[in-house]
Amino acid sequence: MNDVDRAIRLLDDGEVVGLPTETVYGLAADGTQAAAVSKIFKIKGRPSGHPLILHLGEASWLPRYCAGPWERAQRLASQFWPGPLTLILPRKAQTVPDEVTGGLDTVGVRVPDHPVAREVILGLGRPLAAPSANRFGGVSPTTKEHVLADLGQAVPLVLEGGPCRIGLESTIVDLSRESPYLLRPGAVSIVQLSEVLGETVLTDDGKGPAAPGTLASHYAPSARVVLVDADVLWPVALREARGCRVGVLALLGNEPPADFEGELYRVTGDLAQAAHELYAGLRFLDEQGCELILSPFAQLEGIGVAINDRLGRAAAPRS
Ligand code: TXA
Ligand code: MG
Repeated sequence: MNDVDRAIRLLDDGEVVGLPTETVYGLAADGTQAAAVSKIFKIKGRPSGHPLILHLGEASWLPRYCAGPWERAQRLASQFWPGPLTLILPRKAQTVPDEVTGGLDTVGVRVPDHPVAREVILGLGRPLAAPSANRFGGVSPTTKEHVLADLGQAVPLVLEGGPCRIGLESTIVDLSRESPYLLRPGAVSIVQLSEVLGETVLTDDGKGPAAPGTLASHYAPSARVVLVDADVLWPVALREARGCRVGVLALLGNEPPADFEGELYRVTGDLAQAAHELYAGLRFLDEQGCELILSPFAQLEGIGVAINDRLGRAAAPRS
């Protein structure tokens, strides 16, 4: 039996499996089995009540798990699915257990764009509930090795799917309100969403709805993370390196000065490449034993908005 067939059998039996998507690796259970979904929370150390995303095989599955109104959902689904966009819609309580939504009357759904994930979901014939396959609050995994390092002991199978193409979690847009709201930035930008919907997508202004479970501190490595303006990155790095073990996440190819003695993870290329390598870079610098990780901000355009969002959460004070 190949690994995909093993995964389908395990999921059908109510077990939990690690699997690749185009965004990050997920820790998946059959989204229609409440007891299986509960295992996810236990393995991740995630507080129950944090809602999970349901991963569908096709957009045509939507009416089985969600209620309308459909117009906005259909526009976005036909443009961006399969792909890195999660829609929050009213849920159908008969088919979506409370364990998936944390008891909310809405549910997050997306169709992932990874051949392994789709083969598993279509083979099972039911949606998979899956958060990112890391320990709660930590850095999301973008390779099978990352999943094994975090949760290897606790899951019977992690499927191989190569490094995740995008490397950051999906964009989340809430369609359950009067106006569409962006709850989490990702590879699909707010500009793209607004264009396809033909209306302004609102963002959280601190008063509006935030995704439940999106904590200020999240996506955090063990090291302290500090964001600095690109033009003072190296002066700050040189100064800090005198006092502690410093790692620099040089996102956009910034060249270190010859006298920098810390650890370096350098990404050459554009913003998409920076997103693709962001979590691997944070994990690498952590593994080198860095006490402090310095990173410049990304440009605030396209996926740069999502990169800065995740860096900001990695840098937020921890409780
Ligand atoms: O790219 C992704 O979205 C990855 C891959 C595995 O698909 N998944 C992921 O899941 O990032 P997770 O659990 O780490 O993040 C899911 C986010 C949480 O912030 C949660 O609050 C939000 O989705 N969410 C889920 N259901 C929701 C709902 N009904 N209302 C509002 N936010 C919801
Ligand atoms: Mg997560």
